[in-house]
Amino acid sequence: MRPLCTSFFFFFFFFFHAINGHNLIHETCKMCAQKDPNLSYNFCVTSLQAVPKSGCANLRHLGTISIRLTKQNVTATRHRIKKLLEKKNLDPFVKGCLNDCFELYSDAIPSLKKALKAYKGRRYQDANIAVSSVIDAATTCEDGFSEQDGIVSPLTKSNNDTFQLSAIALSIINMLG
Ligand SMILES: *[C@@H]1O[C@H](CO)[C@@H](O)[C@H](O)[C@H]1NC(C)=O
Ligand SMILES: *[C@@H]1O[C@H](CO)[C@@H](O)[C@H](O)[C@H]1NC(C)=O
Ligand SMILES: *[C@@H]1O[C@H](CO)[C@@H](O)[C@H](O)[C@H]1NC(C)=O
Repeated sequence: MRPLCTSFFFFFFFFFHAINGHNLIHETCKMCAQKDPNLSYNFCVTSLQAVPKSGCANLRHLGTISIRLTKQNVTATRHRIKKLLEKKNLDPFVKGCLNDCFELYSDAIPSLKKALKAYKGRRYQDANIAVSSVIDAATTCEDGFSEQDGIVSPLTKSNNDTFQLSAIALSIINMLG
């Protein structure tokens, strides 16, 4: 049995460590971070590795995973904005910003559905446009709060997460397209 076990071990070693997705995740994230200085390599690796089976994914699957992750994040953020808007005695300026963000994040959900469909159909240009609009949404939401002095955005982390995830998705789309 020994030789068989050994070769079995090497088989696994080869497939799960040499050409497998964990290496691909590291390589992909390295390329993403090189192309976009605002993208964090560590964030990219952590986010993709947190997805079950991402370790076995090829680049095309990683693209699907990153679009799905963005959609989950956008949906959760939209929900969070809704909760924030329910608070009483909101500063009128903050309330206005939150309303804008709510609209931006609401529109981002169908955009990501469109992106996923286009991506699956290998229409990378359409996927690019749809995902780019989500990057813009996160940026526009965050910028709104900075238009008045002394206001701290309650959405900085959410916007940054959405920005990072959609930038990863866009980067992968552009590698394939
Ligand atoms: C990176 O972030 C800076 C500051 O937020 C911004 O001015 C710049 O356009 C961003 N670059 C890219 C490639 O997104
Ligand atoms: C958004 O994604 C990031 C990275 O995967 C994660 O840490 C964060 O918890 C997510 N946020 C929400 C609201 O799901
Ligand atoms: C966005 O998140 C990344 C990764 O967590 C971090 O490196 C970066 O400093 C954050 N940027 C802002 C503006 O918070």
